[in-house]
Amino acid sequence: VPEQDMAGLEVLVTAGPTVEPIDAVRFISNYSSGKMGYALAADAAARGAAVTLVSGPVALEPPARVRVVPVKTAREMLAAAEEAAPRAAIAVFSAAVADYRPARPADRKLKKGVDDAALAAVELTPNPDILATVGAAKRPGQVVVGFAAETDDVAANARAKLASKHADMIVANQVGEGRAFGTDDDQVVLVTAAGDEELPLMPKRELAHAIWTRALEMR
Ligand code: C5P
Repeated sequence: VPEQDMAGLEVLVTAGPTVEPIDAVRFISNYSSGKMGYALAADAAARGAAVTLVSGPVALEPPARVRVVPVKTAREMLAAAEEAAPRAAIAVFSAAVADYRPARPADRKLKKGVDDAALAAVELTPNPDILATVGAAKRPGQVVVGFAAETDDVAANARAKLASKHADMIVANQVGEGRAFGTDDDQVVLVTAAGDEELPLMPKRELAHAIWTRALEMR
């Protein structure tokens, strides 16, 4: 049994992609596997935390002793996160939220040869930023952690996100060339007001452990 150093703590984790309907059979989404978020939820639960895992559609088994709230769209994810956030001592936002959604999804299947104009020009509208919304509403003592997947200027972009999203820590990783999305290992920099802490390449479960340990120190 791991050390129960999160016993009595409620935590919130968002994970996976969101899916945004175009019509009754089509959607916009991304390649997020949910592995990082599920590893975070599993590690916190193993350390005794009461975990709410707000998850987009993924092909993963729910971790033991975790309350999973399944969602599809960014707006559903926002509602579930806002419901759980006030009780959370630490909230970690690892979901890959679709930045845009179809503005007017059809509730039937759009048909080739009939709805060509609508299919060729799906109008998109911005989704809410869940981390920024919860970050702006956080109360003293709550620790909010976000992720930043960047191809360039990783640490500098992450530092900008600390401020714009009212986060206490940004877990920054380099993406591209098959890194991060869908893999079992990750190499990141933990960016906080105190500075940058570069971690070595490690399995996501170990990384999850390091993220919670650092967040616990910030309380
Ligand atoms: O702005 P960017 O998408 O790079 O920020 C990534 C961080 O913000 C991640 O922690 C992600 O979960 C969160 N995010 C969010 N809602 C969005 C977009 C990003 O919670 N709509």
